[in-house]
Amino acid sequence: MRGADGPTTDTRLLIDDLYLRARHLKGRHLRDLLTDRTRVNALQVDAGPIHLDLSRQCIDAATLHALFAWASACDLDGARARLAKGEAVNFTEGRAAVHPALRGRFGPAAVRETARFEHQRMAGLVERLRSGERRGFDGSPLKALVCLGIGGSDLGPRLITDALASDGHYPVRFAANADPRELDRALQGLAPQSTAIAIISKTFSTRETLANAAAARAWLRTAGCPPEAEFRHFIGITAQPEAARAWGIHHEHLLRFDQGVGGRYSAWSTVGLGAATACGMPAFDALMDGAAGMDAHFFEQPLAHNLPAWLGLMSVWNRAFMGLGSLAVVPYAERLALLPAWLQQLVMESNGKTARAAGVDATRASLPTAPVVWGACGTTAQHSFFQQLHQGPEPVPVDFIVPCVNSGLTIFNDERQRIVAANALAQASALAVGRPDSAIEASGHEAFPGNRPSSLILLRDLSASTLGALLAAYEHATFTAATVLGINPFDQYGVELGKQMATQIEQVLQRLDAAERPLNLEGAGHLDEATRASIQRLVQNRG
Ligand code: F6P
Repeated sequence: MRGADGPTTDTRLLIDDLYLRARHLKGRHLRDLLTDRTRVNALQVDAGPIHLDLSRQCIDAATLHALFAWASACDLDGARARLAKGEAVNFTEGRAAVHPALRGRFGPAAVRETARFEHQRMAGLVERLRSGERRGFDGSPLKALVCLGIGGSDLGPRLITDALASDGHYPVRFAANADPRELDRALQGLAPQSTAIAIISKTFSTRETLANAAAARAWLRTAGCPPEAEFRHFIGITAQPEAARAWGIHHEHLLRFDQGVGGRYSAWSTVGLGAATACGMPAFDALMDGAAGMDAHFFEQPLAHNLPAWLGLMSVWNRAFMGLGSLAVVPYAERLALLPAWLQQLVMESNGKTARAAGVDATRASLPTAPVVWGACGTTAQHSFFQQLHQGPEPVPVDFIVPCVNSGLTIFNDERQRIVAANALAQASALAVGRPDSAIEASGHEAFPGNRPSSLILLRDLSASTLGALLAAYEHATFTAATVLGINPFDQYGVELGKQMATQIEQVLQRLDAAERPLNLEGAGHLDEATRASIQRLVQNRG
């Protein structure tokens, strides 16, 4: 493994200092820290439409600056510059990570140009779909789009569509799971002759996506689509155009994106077709502009004013120094209901690793990396898992995400928006301060210990550009965390073993003769005894 290009600064002393600070801060209570308005003011940062408030975190301004010093010693400035220029920051695969280039302001000029070209082609396709110009096998206009993809080829576009599409939009549905239920539901009520199907896969080899594509093809054929007319319905979106062509995608319906775009960073590329079709190109372009604004902020602002850097360092502070293993993401807006799932892949697939870059000293290499990311919308989540957040044995840091204006609704003109905002602030405060009532504390069951950290992320609104800024902020926060931890956020070797074994087990299952007794597990010699026993159980319960 080649090392990251940054300095190999021995950061041990800075890490020791951070541990000491953590020990000191663990002895303080947020209830007390929150009496200091100067501290509260020092822990606020803005970037465009986003405001980040870290005052409810177990941290003080001096410690935040100690984190900046550590990040500088880990060459976060150099890493930011290399990402901005399109150098090979993906050091295990020896290539650039070019998602900022998709947004148009940073990254290699050649990638920006190709991305612009493909973006224009996508815009043309969106226009032809939305206008009804694209026709199906019997000449009917294609009136709905079904997107087949998984992981990064699904979560981002699905989130953007859910967040931004308004009623009466062009119907776009998504199916990721190989469990037939999801595609069945996506196709339900759609007429095959007027349905377009996008197969979205960077590698164009992902088993689940190709199985769903085959099922969609069968659905068209059953409806009378002749094989030679299928191409009218299918769109292929990939970094492997040859594989898409071999599958039968017509060159006019083939949208490409660069190999250097990681799957979980790809919603900005042609992978965003579904979102662009559902929301319209003006909204999709506004999303990109919002992300580009956040790129400029991240690449150009010093750490002391850099919102994504604060967000990333905060997550490392909680995970590595405060010893808190998970992060709950709680958007107070139904439009952001899919944000936790998107963020889960972004953070856990990027930074859920232990292998370090060459040159990272042992102290840094021993730090825990990504938290477990999970979450759901407030206020509904308050009626499920918040019990544990308030009184469970371990504090769970929370990101509260609250729009000031939600589809035109504000705390001034809408009672329910007032309820939502009030609840977000109440929960953040209750978690931090608890209930300092000694009589009740003594009774145990009603005690609220408090001292449970959270970040408050206030969004100016839920417009496309604000959403773009928010998603890009989390991307850069993830990059910041990876940089100080000395890991590569742009590979995902950890998903490979399970995929290979699934292929082997699928082959064994395919060879099984259901009638045979005893079961012949020939060819399954490489499988462990538990897996062989489970296969036998599957066969016994085949219904
Ligand atoms: O299994 C993980 C993964 O490789 C993700 O990184 C990726 O987003 C997803 O699978 C889908 O991959 P593809 O776009 O190549 O189908």
